[in-house]
Amino acid sequence: MSATIAQARAELEAKTQQSQQISLDRAEVLNSGLAANLEMPHPVFIERGAGCYVFDADGNRYIDTSIGFGLHMLGHVHPVVEAAINERVPKGWMFGIHSTSQMKLAHLLQEASPCAERVVFCNTGSEATMYAFRAARGYSGKDKIALFDGFYHGAHDYGMWAADPQSPLQAPQAMPLGHGIPHVLQDLTLLLPYRHPAAFDLIRQHKDELALVFVEGVQSSNPQPQAGEFLRELQAVCAECNVLFGIDEVITGFRVAYGGAQQRFDVLPDIATYGKVVGGGLPVGAITGRADLMEVFTGIGARGGIFSGGTFSGNPLTMEAGAAAVGYLADHPDIYDALERRGDRLADAVNGFCSERDIPAQMKHVGSMFHMFFQGGALNSSRDAHGRNIAAEKGFYLHCLNRGVLVPGTQRAFLSAVHDDGVIDTIIEVFCESLADVHAEGLFVD
Ligand SMILES: Cc1ncc(COP(=O)(O)O)c(C=O)c1O
Repeated sequence: MSATIAQARAELEAKTQQSQQISLDRAEVLNSGLAANLEMPHPVFIERGAGCYVFDADGNRYIDTSIGFGLHMLGHVHPVVEAAINERVPKGWMFGIHSTSQMKLAHLLQEASPCAERVVFCNTGSEATMYAFRAARGYSGKDKIALFDGFYHGAHDYGMWAADPQSPLQAPQAMPLGHGIPHVLQDLTLLLPYRHPAAFDLIRQHKDELALVFVEGVQSSNPQPQAGEFLRELQAVCAECNVLFGIDEVITGFRVAYGGAQQRFDVLPDIATYGKVVGGGLPVGAITGRADLMEVFTGIGARGGIFSGGTFSGNPLTMEAGAAAVGYLADHPDIYDALERRGDRLADAVNGFCSERDIPAQMKHVGSMFHMFFQGGALNSSRDAHGRNIAAEKGFYLHCLNRGVLVPGTQRAFLSAVHDDGVIDTIIEVFCESLADVHAEGLFVD
């Protein structure tokens, strides 16, 4: 097996000829923009998945730690989900208007999500967060939304902000992520420091303008196991200031616990958003929340009523797949214990290896979601991630891919219920070998 980046790249190129061809053909027809974060360190095109594996166009097998950007909690093509989809298809899979399939998943979500007195379905996590912002604005009559440095809530204009790295940590200034985001929206966004007490002062200062304080259950840009204390304090400060408090559970819902971050950290928001796992692998979004707040979804005639819609919202195919997956998780709570144990083992092994060899890299994880960072030292928030060892990082992912472990281009990685102990051993081995290789090649500059 190769030791240098150049050797790894040459090996990968030799065994992914079909992918190379598709990559060339694609350039003629398909703008990669929308799927840009699907890009691996080397273009591979996936043809099929099975359990914790995906197979590329050339038939190479990879352990998949993207697992559909975190959504296949049960792995690819789980028989229970497959059966639910197959059962629905002959009866019709898309009606637009309400179908009998919605109630099962709505009940499951209502039982699992502590804040869920009511449920609304849509089609993606981005849509869910967009609606949560609109609902909070409709209900409160205020316009400003507070978000946290390092957040990701989807691709709509209201979420396309990042902290200007030159701005102070305690008072991050929002700058648009790319062009095309109207500058006027900047006034509607208040950026807060993540896991920093200055956030509470800013909320108090802006409470009369704030419709919603919105935070990920666990920030995927920097998964912190101790996120709970901060979330509980946020809940208290929002209540004190009469500002709505929302948790984005698009990743954490049904992942960091069956009841998501709300259950894991014992925190109760006014509104929460979902996606990913909830659809059993088909496109989904959902908003859950307090009944009086969720009343705004009744229609524009209601008090604070908002418009919501969507041709595919609550479509029966997604609803059946989602109910099968979520129902299976409800019936098998032991899955969460195993994921927790395996996530800890993976992180302990990789972090132990790095400190033993003095390699400035570390894995952050909360249960089964993890993220590699290519620097040593404390990483309290994403502001601490300096990103200077890019060559080591890219090289690491290339080696991993060449050794048969696929880590998504977004660096947010996940285990599923079918990543068993043997698979974890392989991931540990591949990660450690790949770290050792990039270290030996001198790719850590900092
Ligand atoms: C926390 C969070 N919110 C929202 C989204 C957007 O979800 P989607 O990609 O389904 O639009 C994501 C996507 O990864 C996410 O991580």
